[in-house]
Amino acid sequence: MSELEIIIAPDPELKKKCELVLDFNIQVEELLDNMFVTMKRAPGIGLAGPQVGFNKRMIVVDTTQSEEEGRELKMVNPEIVWRSEENKKHEEGCLSLPGYFEYVNRPDKIIVEYLNESNKKIELEAKGLLSVVIQHEVDHLDGILFIDHISSLKRGIISRKLKKYKKSINNGKNN
Ligand code: NI
Repeated sequence: MSELEIIIAPDPELKKKCELVLDFNIQVEELLDNMFVTMKRAPGIGLAGPQVGFNKRMIVVDTTQSEEEGRELKMVNPEIVWRSEENKKHEEGCLSLPGYFEYVNRPDKIIVEYLNESNKKIELEAKGLLSVVIQHEVDHLDGILFIDHISSLKRGIISRKLKKYKKSINNGKNN
């Protein structure tokens, strides 16, 4: 297993709509493992394919650090098939936007269908943090970041700061 490089926003790779995984092969399993390790080491509680340069509908989730009955999940082609009418605000962050946290309003409960790491179709009802993380990661597969759910003013400030931050890292690499 190997750790993958996480793409930092703003980056066009993070704005693409990802493709369905049509061929569930060994590379898919390896990528899920590598994504899981990358998320754990970051450390984070969720990671999506495009964040590590793969334009495929794959996400990994780990809520075991924050919840008593937390889950570790590897999901291929996740699709949210039901959303509760009741919304909840939750503070979100993202490995592609390091250091930024904002409250996002989302449906409290969802039902998601996906293929697990054994290519088995699963239907899962999620609430609380698990529901938030899955919705956040599925958004990534459609090129949506959590800052796309907040005011354009705040989004602009965060984007500008991240651009500066990325410039400073690149300058560091060149010097
Ligand atoms: Ni994220």
